[in-house]
Parts: sequence; C-alpha cells; structure tokens
Amino acid sequence: MKKRLGPSDRLYPMPVPLVCGGSMDEADACAVAWIGICATAPPRLAIALRESRRTLELIRGSGTLTVNTPRASDAAVVDFFGTTSGRDRDKFAESGWTLEPSSLVEAPRIVECPYQMECRVVQEVELGSHVLLIAEVVESHAEEAVLDETGGKVDVTALDPLVYIAGSREYRRLGDKVADAYSVGAKVGRE
Ligand SMILES: Cc1cc2nc3c(=O)[nH]c(=O)nc-3n(C[C@H](O)[C@H](O)[C@H](O)COP(=O)(O)O)c2cc1C
Repeated sequence: MKKRLGPSDRLYPMPVPLVCGGSMDEADACAVAWIGICATAPPRLAIALRESRRTLELIRGSGTLTVNTPRASDAAVVDFFGTTSGRDRDKFAESGWTLEPSSLVEAPRIVECPYQMECRVVQEVELGSHVLLIAEVVESHAEEAVLDETGGKVDVTALDPLVYIAGSREYRRLGDKVADAYSVGAKVGRE
C-alpha cells in the first residue's frame, strides 16, 4: 500500500552540477540540483535558482553560464560550493578549484569537473520561490579520460558523477547498469 505524502519537490535521484557565472576575472559557482535537459534541437537546460544567489547575479551580467559535472569523490567541495555564498567567501580561493576560459561564452568552466557545458540564457521565467533559466547549450567538453572507446561519448562509469538525494540530504554515486535503453523494452509482452 502507498502512503500519501502531499505535494513534494523531491525527485529521486538528482544530478548536482556546479553552475558557474561571471568571467575569468570575477566568477562564482553554486551547487544546483534543480536542473535538467528540456529540449534537444537546439539543446536546452532548465535551471532553477533562487533570486538571492550571487551566481545568478553574475549569470545575468553576461547572459551566459556553464554547467560543470563533478566527480563523486569531490562531494565535499561541491557541498562547500552549495553551502557558502560568493557574497561572503571566495569559494575558488578557499577550495583551490580553478577556472578555465570557455570557447564560446564569457562564463568560465571549472577545471576540476570532467564534463562541462557552455550555455547562453535564452529565457527567464519567474516562478515565485525560484527563477527558471532556460539556457541553450552551445558547446560541451569532456576530459579524454571519461570518454568511451569511440571517443565521442561520455562513459558514465569513468565519469562517476556525483548524485544528490533530496529528503535524506545525501550525496551518492551511480550503481550498476541494469539494461540497454530504447532496447530492453522490446521484450515486454513477448516472452
Ligand atoms: C545539494 C545542493 C543542491 C542545491 N541546489 C540548488 C538549486 O537547485 N537551486 C538553488 O538556487 N540553490 C541550490 N543550492 C543552494 C546553493 O548552491 C547555495 O545557496 C549557494 O551557497 C549559493 O551560492 P552563491 O550565493 O555564491 O551563488 C543547493 C545546495 C546544495 C548543497
């Protein structure tokens, strides 16, 4: 039997990349779990940020941002970026994490994150608690060490991305592969 839990903002699990705004001279980044791909051609991300985030202020300055996927082993640094504000602390100086220029946008990328997306904000939607940024992905980068044997796709085992569990407030890593997508479903009803 299922128990009713009421309206919930929890989806299990969530990614938790670092969203970065600003420039090589002045940047800030914060942990963002409320994020997802919402269109393919062109690719777009939906990113929900509270108005109070300094990162949002810097994103608005150039209209650009980057989304940087951290390794599971870097949970402590991600948590630091998600629990301190650039208004009070220099998160890059204190963590030792570093920036590299993007190819097409002003917002820089975070070197220590092996998968990175460069984006231009194309729309802002006011949602009350959060501002929803619709951001077009104009470029992406991956460390060669996290690419599969074809060299064109990310190998998620090598990437080992950090995952966030709302509610219990835990960081986790992904488990084992269970099946091939767009394929395993063909068997249903035929066996
Ligand atoms: C696991 C985790 C997930 C978070 N997800 C979001 C989010 O989706 N949107 C948001 O506005 N803040 C989110 N935060 C909070 C910001 O990362 C945090 O307030 C940060 O200190 C803001 O930094 P800034 O003021 O330098 O931008 C999250 C924090 C953590 C720890």
